[in-house]
Amino acid sequence: MNNPSARMRIFSGIQPSGVLTLANYLCALKRFVELQDSGQECVYCIVDLHAITVWQDPGALKDAIRHAAAAFLAAGIDPGKSILFNQSQVSAHAELAWVFNCVARMGWMGRMTQFKEKAGRDRENASVGLFTYPSLMAADILVYHATHVPVGDDQKQHLELTRDIAIKFNHDYRRDFFPVIEPLIEGVTTRIMSLRDGTKKMSKSDPSDYSRINLSDSADQVAKKIRRARSDAFALPGQASELASRPEARNLLGIYALLGNTAMDQVLDRFGGKMFSQLKGELTELAVAVLGPISAEMNRLVGDPAELDRILGDGAERAASLADPILQQTYDIVGMLPSRRRN
Ligand code: AMP
Ligand code: TRP
Repeated sequence: MNNPSARMRIFSGIQPSGVLTLANYLCALKRFVELQDSGQECVYCIVDLHAITVWQDPGALKDAIRHAAAAFLAAGIDPGKSILFNQSQVSAHAELAWVFNCVARMGWMGRMTQFKEKAGRDRENASVGLFTYPSLMAADILVYHATHVPVGDDQKQHLELTRDIAIKFNHDYRRDFFPVIEPLIEGVTTRIMSLRDGTKKMSKSDPSDYSRINLSDSADQVAKKIRRARSDAFALPGQASELASRPEARNLLGIYALLGNTAMDQVLDRFGGKMFSQLKGELTELAVAVLGPISAEMNRLVGDPAELDRILGDGAERAASLADPILQQTYDIVGMLPSRRRN
């Protein structure tokens, strides 16, 4: 069933819970474009229903969805080649998520580290949506019978749960219906860390704007944030084995490697023994060269919201035409009567 050479369909999603960051670009968007350009069938989704698992100001959310669409396009997603849309326009995601809520077990959800981190100490006060979030994520992927999912390292546990849901569904209903997906977590670095703390991931929702580079930042902002990025008191390491105990050095060197498409060994050769200030100077130049054209194109695109809405609407129609039949088959398998309204 899950023979990648027979058929490969890529699905991935990004939450519009703030302005997209350098981490989203390096570990997600850039890879999405590479997969698209290698000729794979790709479905990319702005997961707005996921975003409201924590409070979002309604007006700001609308802007953030369009902003995320602009970031996908500016990074190189071509709506002629890939399907690009926002999740809430394709109701099959939420419907399949309900079925998966009835397949997944409470214990599975309770183990998710993203829930524990986001809910914090006040777990009683977290939304039920935040707890069941992985069911919706599994539905996003499996409603397309996608086979491969490119993500950053932080999503690994959710993809394992997606596999568990597919396996349990197939087992309970005694058929090979949902593919057991393969995560695509690849690259020199698969987790980009905060510029203020090399042990915490870079996140759109971190309260400190200095912890991240936003794709919309100006060259001056990028320069200032890199200059202020946390460093340690030693010269930069020249050996990969030294990176584990130097989180800030590892993060900046990893970002440099990904931005320049350079192997880590080459980056270590270049900066080993040098001062952080030299790396920061060269990193700023490289980051501005790569991100400058992307943020300029994003600004141009957000100036025409009607065109963005048209692209998302068109993508949603194409997405629904793939998802709806799979949802109907699922309903049939679990024992629902056929829908006369839909067929
Ligand atoms: P999110 O911003 O949480 O919706 O994440 C969208 C995509 O970006 C997912 O594939 C994440 O794994 C990836 N991503 C987000 N933050 C990071 C990070 N700090 N390091 C690596 N990948 C990340
Ligand atoms: N949970 C992912 C994140 O926070 C976003 C996401 C939702 C996703 N659905 C997905 C990623 C499906 C890959 C596939 O980053």
